[in-house]
Order: sequence, then C-alpha cells, then structure tokens
Amino acid sequence: MCGIVGYAGYNEAAPFLLEGLQKLEYRGYDSAGIAVFSDKVRTMKSQGRLATLREKVDAAGGIPGTLGIGHTRWATHGAPNDINSHPHTSMSGRITVVHNGIIENYIPLKEELESQGVVFRSETDTEVVAQLFDKLYDGDLVGTLIKVIGRIRGSYALGILCTDYPDTLLAVRKDSPMIIGLGEHENYIASDIPAVLDHTRNYYLLNDNEIAIIKADSVELLDTDRNPIHRDIYTVDYDISAAEKGGYDYFMMKEIKEQPAALRTCIGSRIHDGDIRLDKIRLTDDQIRNIGRIHIVACGSAWHAGIVGKYVIEELTRIPVEVDLASEFRYRRPILRRNDLCITISQSGETADTLAALREAKANDVHVLSIVNAVGSSIARESDDVLYTMAGPEIAVATTKGYSTQLAVLYLIALKFGEIRQTIAPATAAKLLTALEALPDQLESLFADEDALKALAKQHADKNNVFVIGRGIDYGASLESSLKLKEISYVHSEAYAAGELKHGTISLIEEGTLVVAVATQDQLYEKLVSNVKEVKARGAYVVAIVKEGCTDVEGVADKVFYIPQTEDIFTSTLTVVPMQLFAYYTAIERGCDVDKPRNLAKSVTVE
Ligand code: F6R
Repeated sequence: MCGIVGYAGYNEAAPFLLEGLQKLEYRGYDSAGIAVFSDKVRTMKSQGRLATLREKVDAAGGIPGTLGIGHTRWATHGAPNDINSHPHTSMSGRITVVHNGIIENYIPLKEELESQGVVFRSETDTEVVAQLFDKLYDGDLVGTLIKVIGRIRGSYALGILCTDYPDTLLAVRKDSPMIIGLGEHENYIASDIPAVLDHTRNYYLLNDNEIAIIKADSVELLDTDRNPIHRDIYTVDYDISAAEKGGYDYFMMKEIKEQPAALRTCIGSRIHDGDIRLDKIRLTDDQIRNIGRIHIVACGSAWHAGIVGKYVIEELTRIPVEVDLASEFRYRRPILRRNDLCITISQSGETADTLAALREAKANDVHVLSIVNAVGSSIARESDDVLYTMAGPEIAVATTKGYSTQLAVLYLIALKFGEIRQTIAPATAAKLLTALEALPDQLESLFADEDALKALAKQHADKNNVFVIGRGIDYGASLESSLKLKEISYVHSEAYAAGELKHGTISLIEEGTLVVAVATQDQLYEKLVSNVKEVKARGAYVVAIVKEGCTDVEGVADKVFYIPQTEDIFTSTLTVVPMQLFAYYTAIERGCDVDKPRNLAKSVTVE
C-alpha cells in the first residue's frame, strides 16, 4: 500500500525513481510524485497513474539531480489529487518526505504546528512529518529524526531529503516495509525488491525504528540511540524475469500460468522418498502432538485459504481449527492457550492486520507458524516458524499463485501433523501424498479449458450478479472464486454455502442469474445437485465445476467444467483455476485494468 523509492548515487535520479515506481505501481496508483535534489529540491507530482507523471517529467525535459525520492499513492488521508500526492515539503522548503503508512496522531500534531504558525498545504498525515521535522531541526539530521519518531505514532516507511545535506537520503520504518538496495556507487530505498532489481540483487532489510543514512558510496544503519547496527546482506533468490510480464498482457495471466511450476517447487522440495520435510521448524513433534487448538489468522484470499485449511487440517489431524479474519482477531481478545498454535497466512508478509494478530498471539505465548511468500518480510521475521510458499514475486493485485501455494503448504502441514499425531493410517498417508504430488500436472491440464472459459466470460460479461455455491471444502473454494470475480471485474458476486441458500438468498435468483456450482465432494455431491436443481427451477444459468466422471450433472447444469480426479481434500487447488480464468476474461470483456483494479492495492500495510 503506497510504494516509495529513493536514490543516492552519481547518475541522474529521476529515471531510476520513475522506473522503480513503475515496478511498485501495484502498491497504489491514485497518484505519483518524485522530488530530486540538485541546487534545490524540485518536485513533480500528479493525480492518476504513473504514466501521467512520466509525461509531465518528460515535458519538462527531466529533473536534474543525483539524489531523490519517489512515491506512488494509495490514498488514506486526503483525496487523490495533485496537492495530496507525495512528496511533501515543509514550509521553508528544507525537508521533503515520502511516506507509506499512517501517522495516527497527525491531527494533534498538525494543530500544534499550526498554532506555531505553520501553514499546511495538503490534507495528508504525511505533511505533518515534513513540517514537524523542519520545526524540530537543529542542524543534526539524525538527531532530529530521532526526535520526530519519538513524536509520531502509527506506521511509517519514510524517505527524507534535507537541503542542508545534498548527498544524503535518510530512511526509517515502523510497521511498513522498506528495503535498502546496495548498488555500485549508488544505493536505493524501496518498499519492495522489484523496484531495485534491475540495479542490484543485494539489499538490507530495515527493522522497526532503525535509521538508514544512505549516500552514493555508503549505507549506515543506526538504532535510535545512534548505535551502529551490523546487518547481513540479503540476496534476491529469484530471477529478474520473475518480476516481468514475460510477453503476457497482464501479470495476473502470467501468474495463473505459473501455478503448476510454483506448486512443483512448493510441494516437490518438501517431499523426499515419500516423507514430508517441513523445513527446519522449531515446533517439535511433542508440541505438535499436544496442540490444543489451531487458530488460522489471515486476510482476504489468505483467509480463504485458511477456510479450506480448516477442513483439511481437522480431517487429517482431528485438531479443532478456528479461522479468523486478522482485523477481527486482533481486537476481540481471542481466547488463546499456551498449547495452541497460531498459523498466520500472508503472501506479502506485510499485511498490517495479520502482523498485529501475530503479535497478539505471541504476546499470549502462543507459538506462531506463518505461511508467507515474501522472504524476509515482517511476518516471516517475527514468527516463531516460517514455511515459505516459494511462489516467486506476485505482482498482480489479485492473488492466484499466492493462494494456490498457500493451500499447498496447508495440505503439507495437515499431512505432516496427521502423521505425527497418528491420525492418518500409513496407507492413507501414502495415497494422499501421491495425490498431492499429482496436483501441479493436474492444475496445468485445466488450462485446456481457457478458450471455453473465455467464451463463457464473453457470454456473461453483462451480468451484474453472480453466485458461487458449494458445500464443505467447495464452499471455501467458492469464497476465493467469488472474490476473484468481484475484485477485478467489478461484478457483484457472492459465495454461499449451498445449503444456506434457502435461508434467504435464493430470493435473489431470477431469470438469467449466473450461478457457479462447485460440487467435488463425493459425500455432498448429490446434495449440491439438488441445490442446482432448485436454482435452475428459478431461472438461473448454472455453470457446474465437478470431478471428471460426474457427467450426470450435464443434464442439470447449463455448462460443465471438469477437474481431474483427486482426493476430495485437495480439490480447491483445481476448482479455483477455471474461476481465475473466468474472472480474468470477464474483466477483459468489461474493459477493466486486470492488474490494477480500482481502489485496491497489493500489500495492505495499513489497517
Ligand atoms: C485478493 C488478495 C487479497 C489478499 C489480502 C491479504 O486477491 O490478494 O485479498 O489476499 O490482502 O494479503 P497478504 O496475503 O499479502 O497478507
């Protein structure tokens, strides 16, 4: 949510800043801006997409200077207009700031500064940081920053320029992500790795309230007592092309198509001679045997993965599982016992609510095992144990490979815990493992339906209401399928537990309403077919997603998509794929920007 970049070097800063922001545009795209320092700080910003800013900069013949900061915004405080766009500069012009996060106490600070004669230009919380910094400034850059962070509350990743220090970029973070890219005679800051990947693969991760003093030839890290910090250098472990579109029109389609490979890595690397090895987790077998309850906590699609995970883990381990939305969990004083396990799930590893939930669990002495994609992210670092999903960078705002690899890790956990707790018979475990290993190829085979799904999307692109129904695990998968449709194609879509329809929602079904029925659970199949008949009788157009061999549904549904035969507990990995493709093509038909849906941003770093 909001992307920031910064450059200190000997080359022109503006091209790097614009390029870097382009790579971060998935974090927010309401407006963008850059500030570059040469003899003075020159700022250009504009409402709308980065392309508009780029045109402005080009029309001005560029912005000279080798030190600069940039920002792409997802508006929180103040409308997305030119004035509220970052960077923000203090009244005197001395301090210029870009910020990702929310300054929670900006109103009293603003009032205090206004009473001292400071005149604010924008409605943002960020401008308070620039003005406060300037007010407290005494010539000591780091000392002033320490005073500023002592006064502000909330979350922040800040890039700061001061006209008294023409060679220095200052950075600090708390609860918002920030990396320091380490180049050859140039260094960078960024909210995420793709922004610097064309220039370097080496970076530092900044921890909360650590200060970075960045110059062309040096990076110094200090704590708030000014003690130097030694930090190991991280090296990006994926190929640059992983963060490029690679010939696809949209990242989302590329990432849908990357799912088989991502699953092969995620699952394959953890199965050795028929044995699951869950990396080097600290959780011992004894602890696993004694788990009282599992709390899965996540947001959005990761929460949907958790819902499916609940069915699978309870089935294979007989441990009761609760699934919570992180934003609810963190404020509802959850009942946590010491022998409980908390599993947080997050693709970005930076989701503010999930991070807060993790901290709540840890504060209650509950072991936290996290399922994370972004290596070294805050959630990964603060957890007791991490299982990485190994999906590679996910750029499209709507998750696809992130979700399917989260499911895969949940399956692995369920199988491993079941084996340790002896709640699965060895023969069953072996059968399940074989089925799990077959999933990547099976998922790949589903792409054969792409044209049919494209045609279906064309046929129904004008529909404004869609229902996705399922029972059991299929209900969990329906939640994710439904979200894909609404977030990228703006079609109102609801997921419903099929048995619940009759309790109210069926009144919304009318002639032509599109209903997608997911029916892959052997035990529930006939019941779902009855639900399909009920909506058909009320005029619905029904698309069924069933397992190969369930051909009898052809006589009931209007259109049928088949997934390969697999174990019932693993079907969600497959049923969601036709819906990812359907949502994608519906969005295209409706002229939507697939990778950057309105109002959304990848990585929700504010609550
Ligand atoms: C939807 C989507 C979001 C995320 C949610 C959590 O396609 O991507 O619902 O799943 O914002 O994000 P992470 O997994 O980064 O914590």
